[in-house]
Amino acid sequence: MPEVLIACDAATLAAGDSGYGLIRDAALVLDQGRIAWVGPRADLPSDYAAMPRHDLGGRLVTPALIDCHTHLVHAGNRATEFEMRLQGASYEEVARAGGGILSTVRATRAASPEGLVATALPFVDALIAEGVATIEIKSGYGLDRDTELRMLRAARQIAALRPIAVRTSFLGAHAIPPDYASRADAYIDEVCIPTLHSAHAEGLVDAVDGFCEGIAFSPDQIARVFEAARLCGLPVKLHAEQLSNLGGAALAAGFGALSADHLEYLDAAGVQAMAAAGTVAVILPGAFYTLRETQAPPIALLRAHGVRMAVASDMNPGSSPMASILLAMNMACTLFRLTPAEALAGVTRNAARALGLFDRGVIAAGLRADLAVWTCQHPAELSYRIGFNPLHQRIIGGEL
Ligand code: NIG
Ligand code: FE
Repeated sequence: MPEVLIACDAATLAAGDSGYGLIRDAALVLDQGRIAWVGPRADLPSDYAAMPRHDLGGRLVTPALIDCHTHLVHAGNRATEFEMRLQGASYEEVARAGGGILSTVRATRAASPEGLVATALPFVDALIAEGVATIEIKSGYGLDRDTELRMLRAARQIAALRPIAVRTSFLGAHAIPPDYASRADAYIDEVCIPTLHSAHAEGLVDAVDGFCEGIAFSPDQIARVFEAARLCGLPVKLHAEQLSNLGGAALAAGFGALSADHLEYLDAAGVQAMAAAGTVAVILPGAFYTLRETQAPPIALLRAHGVRMAVASDMNPGSSPMASILLAMNMACTLFRLTPAEALAGVTRNAARALGLFDRGVIAAGLRADLAVWTCQHPAELSYRIGFNPLHQRIIGGEL
């Protein structure tokens, strides 16, 4: 039977709406896991008048949050590298010295399947506690067939162990493993693309990602991975323009990418290419903050060109050891001058698009009844406080 929720306010984040889409004194009707109706309580259709009611006690309802960029399946940690960087070493210097991503590769290769899941769950739980109902999880710390598959299976298993939806991204082109040092092309042909095929055959891949950077892969190498993705019928996304500008965002846009992520060094041509392709800009302030980066992504230009912006934690053991989507929202506002409304759209409506999902991220009839209920007066509070979690409850698939 449909159930009626009474909220103080509902931030619907309706499509085409640049603000919160705030409905004051709102009612929502949930039916069979979907939103059946939303609007002012006074307008509730009479058919629903007799349905069971659940009063949310003056609270705010938003779509459940979506963390569209994480590397939360991995082993080990890089606290020592954190210390090195505080002594003055750069992220690139640490990486070139065999640390960085490759140190997590060593730990992840040595981890058992159960170990990978067990290490990831506390990070998943931290995100769930903040109202997150959908997360993306990347591979990319295996860089060999078996470990990449193990990471992706761990990501799938998380969805079975926790009330959360998981979208996987195959990130075989994340770093050049030591056994292929100076042979990046051979790594792409002999390991990355064959592993993509194996993972896809096992149903483990929802999208294909890469890291286009001087310390990782060239645009030509990424293009080869993207061609392979296209042949598999898989959408692509890219870590682009994080540390320098190699034109990765435009390359990704040319492949109709769901998203280009990081983007600190993105230029006007890249912004235009993304706008033309409808590629979402995923803003990752946790990495900017952790690496003490000083060049911010071109937010005003993205906004001017109507490029949708998502915000994510980038939760990973190196550049963004941050398991908080609320903190990512706060940082996006304070460091990059996103408005709190943009930050909220960035972890709901636009995050859904960055994952190619159109059934969530907005409160509208017909969409999944994945909601977050907050003890807040106004949606700006979600971005405003630091280190405080106002979540009252999540509603997943209409389950209170
Ligand atoms: O999103 N940029 C590359 N990949 C990750 C970092 C991974 C790591 O440092 O372990 C990122 O920042
Ligand atoms: Fe990342």
